[in-house]
Amino acid sequence: MAAQHRSLSSKLGLAVLPFALQSSASALYSTYNFNPLEHLGGIAPYFEPQDPPASPDAPQGCTASRAAYLSRHAAIYANDFDFEEYIEPFIEKWQNKSSIDWSKIPSLNFLADWSAPISEAEQELLTRVGRLEATQLGVDMSFRYPNLRLPKRVWTSSAERTYKSAQAFVRGYETDDNTMNVVSIYESKESGADSLTPYKGCPAYSSSAGSDESSVYKKKFTKPLTARFNDLAPGFNFTTDDVYGMMELCGYESVIRGSSPFCDLDLFSPDDWLAWEYTEDVRYHYNVGYGNEVSGAVGLPWFNATANLLMSEDADAEDLYVSFTHRELPPMVFVAMGLFNNSEFGGTEAEINDTMPLDRINYRRAWKSSHVLPFLSNLAIERFNCTGSYGYDDGEYYRVLVNSAPQPLSACTDGPGTTCSRSGFESYVQERVNLFSGFSEKCGVDYDNSTDVMSLYTDSSVGNGTVVGKRYEAFASS
Ligand SMILES: *[C@@H]1O[C@H](CO)[C@@H](O)[C@H](O)[C@H]1NC(C)=O
Ligand SMILES: *[C@@H]1O[C@H](CO)[C@@H](O)[C@H](O)[C@H]1NC(C)=O
Ligand SMILES: *[C@@H]1O[C@H](CO)[C@@H](O)[C@H](O)[C@H]1NC(C)=O
Ligand SMILES: *[C@@H]1O[C@H](CO)[C@@H](O)[C@H](O)[C@H]1NC(C)=O
Ligand SMILES: *[C@@H]1O[C@H](CO)[C@@H](O)[C@H](O)[C@H]1NC(C)=O
Ligand SMILES: *[C@@H]1O[C@H](CO)[C@@H](O)[C@H](O)[C@H]1NC(C)=O
Ligand SMILES: *[C@@H]1O[C@H](CO)[C@@H](O)[C@H](O)[C@H]1NC(C)=O
Ligand SMILES: *[C@@H]1O[C@H](CO)[C@@H](O)[C@H](O)[C@H]1NC(C)=O
Repeated sequence: MAAQHRSLSSKLGLAVLPFALQSSASALYSTYNFNPLEHLGGIAPYFEPQDPPASPDAPQGCTASRAAYLSRHAAIYANDFDFEEYIEPFIEKWQNKSSIDWSKIPSLNFLADWSAPISEAEQELLTRVGRLEATQLGVDMSFRYPNLRLPKRVWTSSAERTYKSAQAFVRGYETDDNTMNVVSIYESKESGADSLTPYKGCPAYSSSAGSDESSVYKKKFTKPLTARFNDLAPGFNFTTDDVYGMMELCGYESVIRGSSPFCDLDLFSPDDWLAWEYTEDVRYHYNVGYGNEVSGAVGLPWFNATANLLMSEDADAEDLYVSFTHRELPPMVFVAMGLFNNSEFGGTEAEINDTMPLDRINYRRAWKSSHVLPFLSNLAIERFNCTGSYGYDDGEYYRVLVNSAPQPLSACTDGPGTTCSRSGFESYVQERVNLFSGFSEKCGVDYDNSTDVMSLYTDSSVGNGTVVGKRYEAFASS
């Protein structure tokens, strides 16, 4: 290959070629870098992938006058499915097979004196890194919106990991103690659309959707890995699920201990990580994405309620609405809003599943779970007051951010930068409502008193929540 290049280039008479070749070769390899933590799907520590790289600053002449955020909880020790299905069996097997002398085995030698980072009791709890991530979001938001009034309430679904994320966020965001409350919304299986976990009240949603589809690529990419490891450590009998669990440990151990030997690129190469990531992207496509018929209907009520709050002229409206939930809801809201649609610039609705082939990676996909639902993944909708944005009328404009990257709305691009006008935003919201309204019917709700509308932000019976306070005060008083 290099020889061919050289001869072609010499035909072109490039005298400095040997030097040029060498330096371009070394520049090529020295600029390749790869961080597995940015390809870990739902186990990725929070990061901002700049996807797309448009500027998160307010467009020229615009000031944020309101905003609403929906955030997944921050980093946890391990979710119960990942722990029980992959991690615990691998750890148990590693403990059982104590006769293997790992210290002599290249790239697995760390297993000689490794210790498991997760116990069953810690499953699902927020880690220190998780608390840090959520607190940092609070601080970042205070920098982004210096003019907005502090909200009185922050909402969260009732699980401990979401609740603690909301508390850590409040500690980062409030300046004085005890000005912001956290309101817990019960994760009911009969809430209809009126909760921060509406998928739990949606019988048509199954948490195992996507497993079959993703198992195709999982088997394919783990095959050479199990073969390699079984060659290195005969007697352990590495399986597909062991390899999957080891790769998950890279993410979990990193958010528990700050680093993990499972992330070493000599153990799993960049291509192995990309294959793991794609396997998860296929799973989430069918689970909470465009491949699940019910995603948009479950995501719409939050989007509609929030868009209307932001557009409302009600004097009681808060400047800022922040809510915490689990990994399922933000992606379903993305579908309701048409974000990260692999077919946006071509292809029909019917062809969406073809964009996620089961037997090979579509590297050009927009739907990347590492960007869509890492720990603390957050969606923002902002309302701006713009005056003196050259070429645009003064007035109200709207913008969407995901993990701080602006997301142009496919049908609404008539404002400065990535924003959209108020009238454009109104018709866009109406268009999405027309596509996806009818939560109870589309979910096949089989219980009484369902609702298609999310009203918890304005429902006085939801209450004012509980004061947070600084952490040291909680210690002092307990
Ligand atoms: C580990 O050993 C115990 C006791 O022999 C056995 O019950 C268990 O199934 C083993 N687990 C694995 C994952 O091999
Ligand atoms: C290896 O593990 C698989 C799956 O657990 C099992 O079916 C198989 O019998 C094991 N093979 C050996 C040699 O232990
Ligand atoms: C995704 O994009 C395609 C092509 O523009 C469109 O037909 C389809 O409705 C979009 N899907 C959603 C859920 O917005
Ligand atoms: C995509 O596949 C899922 C699962 O098989 C199916 O339910 C859905 O209808 C398919 N979507 C389209 C647009 O064909
Ligand atoms: C928008 O900004 C202009 C100029 O700062 C100000 O006069 C106007 O009152 C603002 N409008 C709203 C709705 O905040
Ligand atoms: C449904 O709402 C009605 C009226 O509020 C109430 O009487 C009834 O008990 C509720 N049913 C269930 C199953 O919660
Ligand atoms: C959308 O929100 C408006 C205003 O709150 C409400 O009247 C309407 O019923 C909602 N529709 C859906 C489908 O959520
Ligand atoms: C919540 O706070 C508002 C305003 O501070 C107050 O009017 C209302 O009574 C409170 N509601 C409850 C249930 O405590």
